[in-house]
Amino acid sequence: MLGNTISLLFIVLTIQGIFGEQCLTDQWPPKPERAVPTYVVSLDDPPMERWNQVATAFKTEIIDILAFFKAFIVEINPNLKFLLNLIDDKLPAVADTLPAPYGDEMKGISRATGLPLGEIVLYNIFYEASALCTSMVAQNQYGNVFHVRNLDFGVFFGWDMLNNSWILTEKLRTLIIQINFTRNGEVLFKTTNFAGFIGVLTGLKPNVFSASVNSRVSLQGGYEGLIEWIFNINRNQSFITFVIRDLLTKAESFDSVVSNLTETELIAPCYYIVGGPKAGQGVVITRDRTKTVNITRLGKDNLWFVIETNYDNWKKQPIFDDRLTPCIKCMKIKGQDDVTFESLFNVLSSRPMLNTLTVYSTLMELSTGRYETYWQHCRDEDAPCLPW
Ligand SMILES: *[C@@H]1O[C@H](CO)[C@@H](O)[C@H](O)[C@H]1NC(C)=O
Ligand SMILES: *[C@@H]1O[C@H](CO)[C@@H](O)[C@H](O)[C@H]1NC(C)=O
Ligand SMILES: *[C@@H]1O[C@H](CO)[C@@H](O)[C@H](O)[C@H]1NC(C)=O
Ligand SMILES: *[C@@H]1O[C@H](CO)[C@@H](O)[C@H](O)[C@H]1NC(C)=O
Ligand SMILES: *[C@@H]1O[C@H](CO)[C@@H](O)[C@H](O)[C@H]1NC(C)=O
Repeated sequence: MLGNTISLLFIVLTIQGIFGEQCLTDQWPPKPERAVPTYVVSLDDPPMERWNQVATAFKTEIIDILAFFKAFIVEINPNLKFLLNLIDDKLPAVADTLPAPYGDEMKGISRATGLPLGEIVLYNIFYEASALCTSMVAQNQYGNVFHVRNLDFGVFFGWDMLNNSWILTEKLRTLIIQINFTRNGEVLFKTTNFAGFIGVLTGLKPNVFSASVNSRVSLQGGYEGLIEWIFNINRNQSFITFVIRDLLTKAESFDSVVSNLTETELIAPCYYIVGGPKAGQGVVITRDRTKTVNITRLGKDNLWFVIETNYDNWKKQPIFDDRLTPCIKCMKIKGQDDVTFESLFNVLSSRPMLNTLTVYSTLMELSTGRYETYWQHCRDEDAPCLPW
């Protein structure tokens, strides 16, 4: 990642002057065709079968993205090479080491797409250390809590200099879906996923909690945990996106979720952003693999929001990627009496929160369970986009 980054850094610093910061007001409502489709995954179906509909609908795209990984991962991110060498030999067996029901769900997706199990496992574990994002929990003057996020993805996989689009980012766009996870015919929780991926990066259990995961950039790449898991050196740690899905399935309160996410040992460092239905329920949990480094709660500095991108939020942000300062500025301009889907979507659609890597924005309202995801696409025609 750093090789790529440093060569681009120079260009970015040179031309940063032309990438103005925005605080837009006119992005809502997005056109109806930007709403991503919703699929239903019934937890009452056997794990091997519950993804059949999604896996069949997105078979072509899943096959395409895995072919892309296999062809390009090594040259672009040497850190991941070890995974490629394990696809046929070790990764299929990894499915059986995962906590239930995840191994069986991956087997079901493998069967439905016809792809080897090792490839489905690869697709599901490499996200552990790779997503860049902006997440935010904010409450309005009546204490109503909202949780929103941009998902930015693809920086590790190379920049197509010719048409300014990140190749993987373009491929991932076609895979975005919302999922209603149901039990006994009722919606138990909702998530935004890439089809074929079964962990959760963004999700809401209505009236209980909302969560998003942002990656915490680590020089080592965050792969030690995966190696320890695959080679059975240490399996006491949890996969960061399965932890969220477990909690969406089982947890009953915001407080229990926060303490669980504070204590669980993890495969990779990350930021967990969590919202709850009561006034004041919003936190950013900064995680190392074995411990919590910091917890920032809603209300700090008398602010009605907490924001996290991909760097420790109490430190100075890196000059080549500061989305935090412009986001805070824009939130302050809007004010606490303007915390709605409309204004939050406007913030997430403003540069640099919106950048070339941004693939979707999800908006969640805790007390009502309202949940909306829109495709995002930064277009240079409108105003120049930062490459990340
Ligand atoms: C998902 O759940 C919401 C209710 O929370 C419902 O309005 C929507 O129709 C459901 N979508 C599908 C595809 O079942
Ligand atoms: C731009 O990149 C995308 C993603 O790889 C590709 O599908 C498209 O063909 C490219 N367009 C041009 C004009 O090169
Ligand atoms: C995993 O946890 C068990 C029980 O707490 C402990 O005995 C074991 O040493 C741990 N393994 C590692 C590799 O930390
Ligand atoms: C976190 O919650 C899971 C269930 O979702 C449970 O198995 C685990 O023991 C909890 N861990 C902690 C540290 O509370
Ligand atoms: C934790 O974050 C708060 C701000 O959210 C900051 O004031 C404090 O210094 C941080 N603590 C550590 C140990 O870095």
